[in-house]
Amino acid sequence: MTMITLPYEDRHCGDLILVNRRYPLHQRALEKEEALDSQLTAADPAWPEILLARPAAIALQKAMADLGAEGGIVPVSGYRSRAQQEKIYRDSLEENGPEFTKKYVALPDRSEHQTGLAIDLGEGGVELDFIRPSFPDSGICGLFKKEAARYGFVLRYPQGQEPVTGIAHEPWHFRYVGCPHAAIMEAKGMVLEEYLEFLEGCSDGCFVWDDEDGSAQIRYIRGRENGIQIDVPEDCPYQVSGDNREGFIITVWRRR
Ligand code: DAL
Ligand code: ZN
Repeated sequence: MTMITLPYEDRHCGDLILVNRRYPLHQRALEKEEALDSQLTAADPAWPEILLARPAAIALQKAMADLGAEGGIVPVSGYRSRAQQEKIYRDSLEENGPEFTKKYVALPDRSEHQTGLAIDLGEGGVELDFIRPSFPDSGICGLFKKEAARYGFVLRYPQGQEPVTGIAHEPWHFRYVGCPHAAIMEAKGMVLEEYLEFLEGCSDGCFVWDDEDGSAQIRYIRGRENGIQIDVPEDCPYQVSGDNREGFIITVWRRR
């Protein structure tokens, strides 16, 4: 085991950060993003201007290739700067009014698109609306939806979860949370808000998920102002992510 220190501020950064009306994107995440600017990469090589954080882009490209979805599914909107989100919000207010806008467009700094971890996808070959692109449950779009969790993506705003997410059903908006978190969320029918609460509440402080590749041990730890020290293994991969609330999620993989 090696001991690492997690600064309190870092709870605002990582693949599992919750960004919504209640938990806006933190300055720390923006600073890291600036430092990682070069890490933004094309969501799809055919659409070089639509960017995602590198791990999300790699996972999306693999999903598209494995599922034969190139051309059948097109990226519509990925990473957005604060200024872009602000403009989308303002323009929508003007064109669609406040009721629509509140349902389908997050306020600046409350949008997952600013993290580089969210992508709006649309059906290929049809004219697409920028805010509400068509992404049906059938055909290649339906197949992507079914397989997304295997690649670390979740449908972020499902039907019926509006009171929890604060956003209307968006069949086109996928959020990268990584593996195995996406599979766990899907199996438990939880959105990110609920999943983080669930991990925090795991009574023995640890949740274990087994699949064909091995097992993942997931711990939730609260941050502290002076930082916290945690033990991480030397002999197997691990990942630390903040939740953009008060804590960190530590995932340790043990392969079979
Ligand atoms: N459409 C989502 C909620 C956004 O604007 O981030
Ligand atoms: Zn979106």
